[in-house]
Amino acid sequence: MDKKLLENQLIDAAFTAMGHSHSPHSKFKVGAALLTKSGKIYPGTNVEFDAYTLTVCAERAALFNGISNGDKNFISIAISTSSDKFKFPCGLCRQALVEFNPNMEIILLNRNRKLKRYILKDLIPNYFKL
Ligand code: THU
Repeated sequence: MDKKLLENQLIDAAFTAMGHSHSPHSKFKVGAALLTKSGKIYPGTNVEFDAYTLTVCAERAALFNGISNGDKNFISIAISTSSDKFKFPCGLCRQALVEFNPNMEIILLNRNRKLKRYILKDLIPNYFKL
């Protein structure tokens, strides 16, 4: 499929997932969508609990979704939030994602769908590797 069209679908998937955010405590909605080399899209959103520390970020929810569906070949991730600003993925999610592909493209989206692009390994230098 056309690259731009696929990217738009990826961004749409991140925004749709953001709409499903379960964030009664922080009220901060995050959506993520991973793209695989074969063109599949796996969304995820942040899920919060009354036992606060159980919270899972949108990026790792997307990762679990992809892996649970038998896919690991992630090439890109779109991340949207309910903020005007561009919000970077947390350190835990950077580490989780980098273990699958250090060259993954990171597309950050603010709530107005403006975007900024990064390469994951630039956001987590000297990451842990066994
Ligand atoms: N959150 C994410 O979903 N991704 C991140 O990279 C950082 C934070 C979520 C967790 C929590 O539900 C809310 O944002 C506020 O921290």
